[in-house]
Amino acid sequence: MSARGHAFGIDIGGSGVKGAAVDLATGELVHERIKIATPHPSTPKAVAEAAAEVVAKAAWDGPVGLTLPSVVLDGVVRTAANIDKGWIGTDARALFAATLGGREVTVLNDADAAGLAEDHYGAAKDFAGLVLLLTFGTGIGSALIFHGTLVPNSELGHLEIGGMEAEHRAAASIKDRDDLTYKQWAAEVSAVLSGLENLFWPKVIVAGGGISRDADQWIPLLTNRTPVIPAHLRNTAGIVGAAMAIEAGIAP
Ligand code: BGC
Repeated sequence: MSARGHAFGIDIGGSGVKGAAVDLATGELVHERIKIATPHPSTPKAVAEAAAEVVAKAAWDGPVGLTLPSVVLDGVVRTAANIDKGWIGTDARALFAATLGGREVTVLNDADAAGLAEDHYGAAKDFAGLVLLLTFGTGIGSALIFHGTLVPNSELGHLEIGGMEAEHRAAASIKDRDDLTYKQWAAEVSAVLSGLENLFWPKVIVAGGGISRDADQWIPLLTNRTPVIPAHLRNTAGIVGAAMAIEAGIAP
């Protein structure tokens, strides 16, 4: 299947390889998300085969956009903070293209994809100006978008704030690891957001990742200056952004 106005996105994360065709007029999935558990170890070959399985299950025969939790430059993976280190140096674009039967693919950072989707269809769609999206999960992913244009591979989760990498103090995984209350964790998030907003001055910060589902428990506790709003697309943002990227020819 491959239809006019539809594009296919695959979001690769630590627990699942998730994909679907997306209706680009609405940003909605055309069918239920197909999810395969991320293979362990999450080597490039094993993950590419999982992506091929997702595409086969959907019987999709067009181009495919894919995300990875990595810096991706010219299709080549440059970092692997929270996935198998074997990805570093891998030409992911060539690997996915070959494993997906020689079709056209594009590969981009997972948070960049989520940012594109939230900016265009989701929480930030009515904001003109600089949008900063942060995903709070195992690490902290970031996307900077200005009037629809993505500045790719921003990696702000690794910025040192108060002597520590941002994601080492305020990722959602730190809340779990240290058994923090929302109040305690929100203080860490506030420190990170204050550091970021003093450098980038976004109009709005979109908070994504699984913990954004409980946004009412922690967003009101934040003390930084810029308005923070929860992501709307939740667990489909990566898929939708990957589909947007292949359609728009975004190849960081
Ligand atoms: C990685 C980013 C990624 C983020 C969220 C960070 O540790 O460096 O590339 O976007 O985690 O998965």
